[in-house]
Amino acid sequence: MDSLLLTGDCFTLLPTFPADTFDFVCFSPPYDNIRIYKGFPPIDRIALGRELSRVAKPGAIAAVVIQDQTIKGAKSLTSFRWAVDWVDSCGWRLFETCIYQRNGVPGGYWRKRFRVDHEYILLFVKGSRPLYFDKSKLQVPCKTYAPGATDSLNRRLTSGGTLATKVFDIKPTKCRGTVWSFKNTSMEGNRLKTTHPATFPDKLAADLICCFCPAGGIVLDPMMGSGTTCVQSAIYGRRYCGIDIAAEYVQLAEKRLALEVPPEVGI
Ligand SMILES: C[S@@+](CC[C@H](N)C(=O)[O-])C[C@H]1O[C@@H](n2cnc3c(N)ncnc32)[C@H](O)[C@@H]1O
Repeated sequence: MDSLLLTGDCFTLLPTFPADTFDFVCFSPPYDNIRIYKGFPPIDRIALGRELSRVAKPGAIAAVVIQDQTIKGAKSLTSFRWAVDWVDSCGWRLFETCIYQRNGVPGGYWRKRFRVDHEYILLFVKGSRPLYFDKSKLQVPCKTYAPGATDSLNRRLTSGGTLATKVFDIKPTKCRGTVWSFKNTSMEGNRLKTTHPATFPDKLAADLICCFCPAGGIVLDPMMGSGTTCVQSAIYGRRYCGIDIAAEYVQLAEKRLALEVPPEVGI
């Protein structure tokens, strides 16, 4: 299948794809009433979870970037409901929950609450383990590194004591943990992209794609908005299928693909 962008309701379009088509699914759904887009029917998360599980390959990961709205002083719990519903009713298993820490301008002055600077990245897997998992590009500097420095793996004993089982050299970098920090979209400086009201960072999409989709594989974003997932898929040599219900956003994604993907890397 070649890369493609489609205009329409993903609930109508996804059933036209055969089962087990996509290597990786990555999207951010509209949640609560945080943004007004171009008008769309309410999202049935259970129906969507089931349909995405059908079209995903066995072992595919689905990454859902989501947050809760604060309504009358309390969190809506929407992200938690997505996690529970997809595991209980849609055939997915929760592989990991990562935090996207939004690194950017401080935002409004909230006198009575914390300043919310994170979203969730819910990572669901279809089956027992990921079909593809390459975390080699997700290294972070290791703060305890020094030339010659060592550390040990310890096993905690039932008595409360510890048993050193293995000594190893500390390397300059280590595997990223579950908190992922990125410049938020407003700090990226892409004015075309920000004509869409709610985008996620390019780097967030790029890291997820490189980790969970093999080169040449196909990535699905069923609610692609400005096309961030599709642009990063093309840049990193993956095919893409992007869907949005709003024709205006599909045109925006087409423009971004034309402007942001160097011709020599496009697929
Ligand atoms: C949060 S935005 C996605 C933004 C995207 N991640 C980006 O970086 O540009 C959600 C998108 O879902 C689209 N949408 C809502 N309901 C839809 C549906 N039923 N089918 C397809 N797209 C839908 C909206 O038009 C909106 O552009």
